[in-house]
Amino acid sequence: MAKVLVVTSGKGGVGKTTSTAALGAALAKSGKKVVVVDFDVGLRNLDIVMGAERRVVFDMINVIQGEANLGQALIRDKRVETLSILPASQTRDKDALTSEGVAKVIAELREKFDWVICDSPAGIERGASLAMHHADVAVIVTNPEVSSVRDSDRIIGLLDSKTEMAAKGGRIEKHLLLTRFDTVRAARGDMLKTEDVLEILSIPLLGIIPESTEVLRASNLGTPVVLSNPDSAPARAYFDAARRLEGQVVPMVVPGEKRSFMTRLFGRRVA
Ligand SMILES: Nc1ncnc2c1ncn2[C@@H]1O[C@H](COP(=O)(O)OP(=O)(O)OP(=O)(O)O)[C@@H](O)[C@H]1O
Ligand SMILES: [Mg+2]
Repeated sequence: MAKVLVVTSGKGGVGKTTSTAALGAALAKSGKKVVVVDFDVGLRNLDIVMGAERRVVFDMINVIQGEANLGQALIRDKRVETLSILPASQTRDKDALTSEGVAKVIAELREKFDWVICDSPAGIERGASLAMHHADVAVIVTNPEVSSVRDSDRIIGLLDSKTEMAAKGGRIEKHLLLTRFDTVRAARGDMLKTEDVLEILSIPLLGIIPESTEVLRASNLGTPVVLSNPDSAPARAYFDAARRLEGQVVPMVVPGEKRSFMTRLFGRRVA
């Protein structure tokens, strides 16, 4: 059964697009059929991070407006056969993304792929609501700082109230992805502790992605970090997170720490 996953956050610039590309590529490398869908109309970032910007001809809005079919708009990744991207429009009006249109596109993608990963714009406005509306699973990308955690809490509220799953009386499966975890700042006590973030948000931890220049390098190359440098610390953290999404139990590595203190953290998991 296809799963629709939304990568979302309250605060902007926390690493959603980076994580969409990395998790999508990691899942595709494990043989799953994956499409990453850009909901950030106007910014169109995901195709650049995926190195596909020069290959965009049609986008999701063209499909919604009947100017192209889905097959024409989907771009196959050159590196991983089972990975595709559905780009967003850079120029069109955001209102062209209608809820009926999005529903139709998502339903069609569910037929073709194992994972449909939606890269949400930041915040709680329409684009973010559309991106999360059909999700079965949400990855809430959060940086270990107060403003990011507070805004994540608002997004969790929306996921539990304003989505199709919530309207049907169900609950979206929610995961926390802590990104841009800086070991130096953590050691200095300048960041919120992982345990405190988990305590506040009360959702299970999918992974901790360290702050790393490898991520920036990968983004400049237009290659998700799991493909550009699979042995780097952020890539390994993303591979582990992808395995956890598939339901595997993978020990959690805390950047900069040798010992795994995650047994305690997992003890606090709230489904
Ligand atoms: N682990 C990391 N280490 C270093 N830099 C990172 C890391 N994760 C993301 N970044 C950088 O942070 C910036 C923002 O990342 P990204 O575009 O993925 O965030 P976003 O949440 O999608 O932003 P927006 O809300 O604008 O869509 C980018 O320059 C990216 O390269
Ligand atoms: Mg983004």
